[in-house]
Amino acid sequence: MREIVSPARALEGIITLPGDKSISHRYGMLASIAKGRSTIANYSTGADCQSTLACMAALGAKIERQEGSISIEGGPLQEPAALLDAGNSGSTIRMLSGILAAQPFTSRIGGDESLSRRPMARIIGPLTEMGGSIEARDQKFPPLTIHGRPLHGIDYHLPMASAQVKSCILLAGLFAQGDTIVREPVRTRDHTEIALKEFGAEIEIEKRTIRLHGGARLTGRELVAPGDLSSACFFLVAALMVKEASLVIHGVGLNPTRSGLLDFLVSMGAQIKVLEVHQVGGELIGDLRVQSSPVSGGVIEGGVIEGTMTAALIDEIPALAVLGAASRNGLTVRDAGELRIKETDRIATIEAGFRKMGVKIETNPEGFHVPGGQTFHAGEIDSAGDHRIAMAFAVAALAADGPCAIEGAESANVSFPEFFATLRQIAQK
Ligand code: S3P
Repeated sequence: MREIVSPARALEGIITLPGDKSISHRYGMLASIAKGRSTIANYSTGADCQSTLACMAALGAKIERQEGSISIEGGPLQEPAALLDAGNSGSTIRMLSGILAAQPFTSRIGGDESLSRRPMARIIGPLTEMGGSIEARDQKFPPLTIHGRPLHGIDYHLPMASAQVKSCILLAGLFAQGDTIVREPVRTRDHTEIALKEFGAEIEIEKRTIRLHGGARLTGRELVAPGDLSSACFFLVAALMVKEASLVIHGVGLNPTRSGLLDFLVSMGAQIKVLEVHQVGGELIGDLRVQSSPVSGGVIEGGVIEGTMTAALIDEIPALAVLGAASRNGLTVRDAGELRIKETDRIATIEAGFRKMGVKIETNPEGFHVPGGQTFHAGEIDSAGDHRIAMAFAVAALAADGPCAIEGAESANVSFPEFFATLRQIAQK
């Protein structure tokens, strides 16, 4: 499907967003293994989180969808009748594998073409150390055949910054004998740790070391998934790309392991106010108000993303690359090799889209530099089936010199099916 996005003069409105993708996955999985009933308000409408629900239903969880929420009756999982389909979702396959590794049955899990190219050795290694038995295509790619085994806790130094791998080990650790310890090289999103506590697990956190006691009994909860800050990012960037903007985004997740995005945008000169902050289910949530930036007459400064900041902003880099090109001094991204193994090689797909729109970018294996002060030119851009690439280029199109066609726009459904409708609602010509 192609979407035509026309340049916009202004962006105005009050919007709410689907539930956070990361948090929805975790709530969906934990509610399915917890005793009793959970309700999750604002569960993500994105296809990835629906893949998690389909997998959990195939494993025996009873899931009902109501207006604006879902309820899950959890309990012991059952052997699935067929291959579990994780679709496009790396979070589903990696995190669920941790649970499956400890079940008293064998299961198979795979996904679409993009997922079938994503590395799984990073979870097979630690799960095998815990006593798990997993077969993979070429020992490293999906589909995975997971022979459930009794597991034991391990003390694991995570070799890369990955919340999915951390979460996989912790979820396996729930069923393991003894304690499971994960030591992170840099702090990554901690939604799993927060959710585990909410569902009743015993977990201790000291700086970058997480210790989980095995064998906890989880019980159902009433939860709310905050709006997804990574989805909000596209509108925050859009507001900074157009001449006039006044936008309020209600009920967005502001977990400190994710909200570095706001600090970064403010450091570039963005005018963002955070209002009505409160806690739900251990997660911070609040409203964001963004306005065009009088600091620089609508043009904002550039910036550098490197080191621990790269891990914190990893999903936002496609949108920030677009902002970088329109900024005064450009954007440099370093230490971002992980971007090459996301839904697409995002350094390559950003580069391809920029070239189509006549925007300069220099890439290297670990990042890129986008010079500032550039104009996006009207053209046809291919999303390459990657949701964040489709949405980032739709935002670039708002500031282009003519209408742009985004090919494969339906890929936005992976995290944000309402994206193009919301954009049409707030963008003014
Ligand atoms: C996620 C962790 C990140 C992120 C992904 C969601 C999560 O992946 O890019 O979109 O929910 O834990 P990695 O763990 O591979 O860095």
